[in-house]
Amino acid sequence: MKRHEGSPPRVIVGAQGAWLTDESGERVLDAISSWWVNLFGHGQPEIKAAIAAQLERVEHVMLAGLTHEPVVRLSERLRERTGLGHAQYASDGACANEIALKMSAHYWRNAGRPQKNRFVALAGSYHGETVGALGVTDVELFRSSYAPLLRIAATVPAPQLRGVTDEAAVQAAIESACDALDRQLQREAAHTAALIVEPLVQCAAGFEFHPPAYLARVRELCTRHEVHLVADEIAVGMGRTGSFGACEQAGVRPDFLCIGKGLTGGFLPLSAVLTTDRVFEAFYDDDIARAFLHSHSYTGNALACAAALATLDLLDEPRLAANRELALRLDRVFEPLHRHPRLHNARHIGMIWAWDVRDAPPDFARRFGLHALARGALLRPIGSTLYFMPPYVIDEPAAEHLLRATLGALQATLDAAPDTAREPALA
Ligand SMILES: Cc1ncc(COP(=O)(O)O)c(C=O)c1O
Repeated sequence: MKRHEGSPPRVIVGAQGAWLTDESGERVLDAISSWWVNLFGHGQPEIKAAIAAQLERVEHVMLAGLTHEPVVRLSERLRERTGLGHAQYASDGACANEIALKMSAHYWRNAGRPQKNRFVALAGSYHGETVGALGVTDVELFRSSYAPLLRIAATVPAPQLRGVTDEAAVQAAIESACDALDRQLQREAAHTAALIVEPLVQCAAGFEFHPPAYLARVRELCTRHEVHLVADEIAVGMGRTGSFGACEQAGVRPDFLCIGKGLTGGFLPLSAVLTTDRVFEAFYDDDIARAFLHSHSYTGNALACAAALATLDLLDEPRLAANRELALRLDRVFEPLHRHPRLHNARHIGMIWAWDVRDAPPDFARRFGLHALARGALLRPIGSTLYFMPPYVIDEPAAEHLLRATLGALQATLDAAPDTAREPALA
C-alpha cells in the first residue's frame, strides 16, 4: 500500500479483447492476460453468452447429494482432453494443489502406507500461497514470514538450462537434475507421497524452461520409486505452451493434474484436480474414513463450469494449431527484443516469451512496470526477467504496440536515475 502512494492503481472501467480502458479513457494492452487467466482476452462473447444462459437455469447448488449438468459435462470433457476420468473442483490454483497433495497422501494411507506423507518439489517452485501450497513453494520472499506454519517440502534442482543451447550441455543438465531426483527418491521414497512439478516452464521462478525429455524422465523415476507425480498446470495448461496440456508434449500422464487460471477464460474462479481410476478406487469404500473429505462451498459452481465448457469449445485442436501459427508470427514481431543488447537468454514456447535483463538496476521490475504502463502496456517482470503471456486474441498491430512500449520502457528504466519512476507523473 505504501508503494501505491507514488503510483496509485489504475481504475479499469472497460476491457475488450487484449485491451483494458482506464477511467481517463486510456487504453492499456493486457500483455500478461491479467496474471495468465484471460486466455481469449476480455469480454469474450461466447464465454459471456454461456454464463448468461446458465444464469437463467441454475447459478449454483451445493455438490453434495446434488449435481448439475455443467459440472457433469465439464468432467466428461476434461476426461476426453486429458485421459484422467475423475475430477474434484476448487476455485484457485493453490486450492487445487492442496487437494492433489492431500489426496496423494490419503491414497498412500488407504494403501496401508501412511508413512508416505511427505512431498518433493523442484527448486524455485511456485504452487500458490495457502499454507499447504506454500510448503511446496520454494520462494523465500513468499515463504519466510510463514515458515513456522509450514511443513516445508524437500527440493531437488530443476535442470539448469538458462542460456544453454548446446545439445550435449542440455542433455548433461537433464542427467544431472534426474540424478539428483533419483538420489532423493532412493533415500526418501518410503516417506514420500508425491513429487509436484510445473511442467515445461516454472513461470514464477523467472521462466525456467525445461524440455519434455526431462518431464518424461521424471515420470519414469516417480513410477520406479512408487511416488505420485502431481503436474501443476495452473499456469502452463489450457494451451499456453502450444498443446492443450504441457504434459502432452512429453507423452506423460501424471497421477494428478491441476488446472485453474484460464480454465474459465478468466471470467470466474475455478480450478480442477484430475486423477486416475487407480486413485479413485483407493477411496471407493464403505468406510467414511477412507473417503476424501474435502469440500469447498463453491465447488463445481454451475456458472464457472458453464464458462469452462465455453472455454474448452474455443480451445479446440484447430484453435491450438492457429495459436501455434500466431505464435510464430508474433515471434517475428518480437525479433528486436531477441537482439536487444541489454536482453539475453531469449526463450519462447507457445504463448510465452521471456528474456533476462543484463545488469538490471535495483527495483527493475517495479520501475519497468510503471514505464510500460505509461506507454500503454501491462507488464510485470519477475525480478530481472521480462516476459509476455498475451491473450490468444492478440494480433500483430497489438504486438507491435507491445514491442514499442517494451523498448521504450526498457530504455526509460535502464537510462533513468533510479528514482525517476517514483515520480507521480508516471502513475
Ligand atoms: C504454477 C502455479 N501454481 C499455482 C498457482 C496459484 O494459483 P492461484 O493464484 O489461483 O491460487 C500459480 C499462480 O500463479 C501458478 O503459477
